[in-house]
Amino acid sequence: MSQSQEFLTKIIKEAGEILKKHFANPQYTVTEKSGVDFTTQADTETDAFIRKAILSEYPHAILLTEETAQTNQDYSELRKAKQLFIIDPLDGTTNFKHGVPHFAISIAEIANGQPITSVIYKPVTDELVIAEKDKEGATKNGITINVSNTQNLREAVIACDWPWDLGKRHFVPEWLSKLHPKVRQNKIMGSAVSDLVSLASGTIDVYIHACLKPWDEAAASLIVEKAGGKITTSTGEKWDIFKPDILASNGTLHDKILELINS
Ligand code: 2AM
Ligand code: CA
Repeated sequence: MSQSQEFLTKIIKEAGEILKKHFANPQYTVTEKSGVDFTTQADTETDAFIRKAILSEYPHAILLTEETAQTNQDYSELRKAKQLFIIDPLDGTTNFKHGVPHFAISIAEIANGQPITSVIYKPVTDELVIAEKDKEGATKNGITINVSNTQNLREAVIACDWPWDLGKRHFVPEWLSKLHPKVRQNKIMGSAVSDLVSLASGTIDVYIHACLKPWDEAAASLIVEKAGGKITTSTGEKWDIFKPDILASNGTLHDKILELINS
C-alpha cells in the first residue's frame, strides 16, 4: 500500500466514525438546497474533518469536495492540478437520512485529471474498497473484487438513479422504458459511489446516471476499471472524471446497453 493510500485509509475510517455516530443517533440538522436537494450536519462535519486532515498532511494539495464546491464550478484548472483530492463526505445522503446503510465516503487522489489512489468506505457494513493506478486489481477489505461475467441482457441487473437536476430526470424513465423489457432487473439504490462499488464487486452488472459530479465518480471509476469494468458516457463517448453522464458496466454488456438506450 502506498503512503498516501495508507493515510487516506486511516482518515476515511475516522470519518466513518462521525457518520456512524450521526446515523445511530439522528439529531443532526438538515439544510434544504435548491430543488429537491438537501444536506445534513453529518455531510458538513465529515467534509470538514477530511479537508482538515488532508491539508495537514498535504498543505499544498487542491481539494474539491461536495460541500465546498461552487455551483457551476469550472473544472479547467482542476484538470491540470498535480495533486488534487476529490471528496464526497457522504454519498447517498437520502439513504443515510432514512436509516438505510447503503451510503459511502469517497476520496480520490488525482494527478493531471487521472485518479491515482482511490479509497471508499461504507461505515455501517465496515467495507473498505481501494485501488491504486500503479497496482493491479481492486480490493474490498483486502480481498480482490471483480465485475460480473454476465453476458446476456436477459440476465442483467441494472442500476440507474435520479439526478438532483430536475431537468435531467426525464432520462431515467426514457432509459428504463427501453431497458425493462429486455433485462432481468432494474434497481434504483440511491448512492452512486456505493452502486459503482457494487458493480466492481459483481453484484450488479451495469450502472447508468445522467448527471453526476466528480466526487460521485472519481474514486469509484478507478475501482471499476481495476475490477475489470468499462466506463463511457451514456452515448458511448470517452468518459473522464469531470463528465456528468456515465455508463459503467462489466464490459461484456457495454455495447448491448449502449445500443439499447440510444435506439
Ligand atoms: P448524494 O447522495 O451525495 O447527493 C442519486 O442519484 C445518486 O447520485 C447519489 O449518489 C447522489 O449523491 C448522486 N447525484 C444525483 N444527482 C446529482 C447531482 N446533480 N450532483 C451530484 N450528485 C448527484
Ligand atoms: Ca454524492
